Amino acid sequence: MYGKTAFSLRDRLRANRFLYFLCGCFRKIFHSGKLFAHSIGYALGDKTSQEAMPIPPPRLRHRVHGDLCRTSFLAAGSQVYWDVAKIMEAQGIKCSEKLKILDFGCGCARVLGYFFHHGKKGVFTGTDIDADAIAWNRTNYPALARWDTNDSMPPLPYPDEAFDVVFAISIFTHMDEKLQFDWLRELHRILAATGVLICSVHGNPVWQQASIFTRKLQTAMSKRGFFFLESNKGLRNLAGLPKFYQTSFHSEEYVRRRWGEHFQIIDYSDQAIGNHQTAVVLRKKDLA
Ligand SMILES: C[S@@+](CC[C@H](N)C(=O)[O-])C[C@H]1O[C@@H](n2cnc3c(N)ncnc32)[C@H](O)[C@@H]1O
Repeated sequence: MYGKTAFSLRDRLRANRFLYFLCGCFRKIFHSGKLFAHSIGYALGDKTSQEAMPIPPPRLRHRVHGDLCRTSFLAAGSQVYWDVAKIMEAQGIKCSEKLKILDFGCGCARVLGYFFHHGKKGVFTGTDIDADAIAWNRTNYPALARWDTNDSMPPLPYPDEAFDVVFAISIFTHMDEKLQFDWLRELHRILAATGVLICSVHGNPVWQQASIFTRKLQTAMSKRGFFFLESNKGLRNLAGLPKFYQTSFHSEEYVRRRWGEHFQIIDYSDQAIGNHQTAVVLRKKDLA
């Protein structure tokens, strides 16, 4: 009797795993079909927006946006641009010919594109691990910024204190804890003494909502205030992103305590980036 139950349980587990695998295959096939259709549409259609901005191909849009829809890609880019511009204004930062701005993890210029579109002045640099996105940026915005491809680990090819403003939107939402601190230290190095670093995290509203689905997340957040969810793997990795690129969640207490070891936390606002992510505004500590 006991043997029979154990056997059927094992069978059920196997069947569940197989079903899970099948669903993953269907999802991947469905996504590939959608990507193919969008790519054909893109190849045959208009590659600029109504506002005459160049639009990246669906494959590159999907990597930064997690969706193939070009309208929502543009809407999100515009929204984040206004959010970052508002933070800069609140910090008394005015775009000028001399202001050195770095978009760390710029992808296919979803946000920087709007700085160019609005005619914002500045010495712009965009860097990303995604060489395809950087190649697209170089072709479509050749004179408007310096474009670099960086490694997944520091350092960046810039001297100390090279930038007045650095923004890292939706980057620390994807790193494990060690990588996060390696990059925070590197961004600290390249930020001017009077500079401002604008980051986003999956803060309280996001992790509280997500923890409805996983108890592990809830437990980790109440114990440590940080959780790295490795779900973007194998068949689930539709965008073909690197393995280290997963999803992380931060509590406010964690950011204030741990990031506060490196930086002064100037502002911390939930849902201030894209009506979704938390904006963390930092300055170098030694200025305090
Ligand atoms: C969700 S996308 C956001 C892109 C852009 N910041 C935006 O808001 O449109 C995350 C980006 O971070 C990039 N990325 C991840 N790890 C990175 C690293 N260590 N250095 C530079 N870029 C990185 C990815 O390639 C991707 O383009």
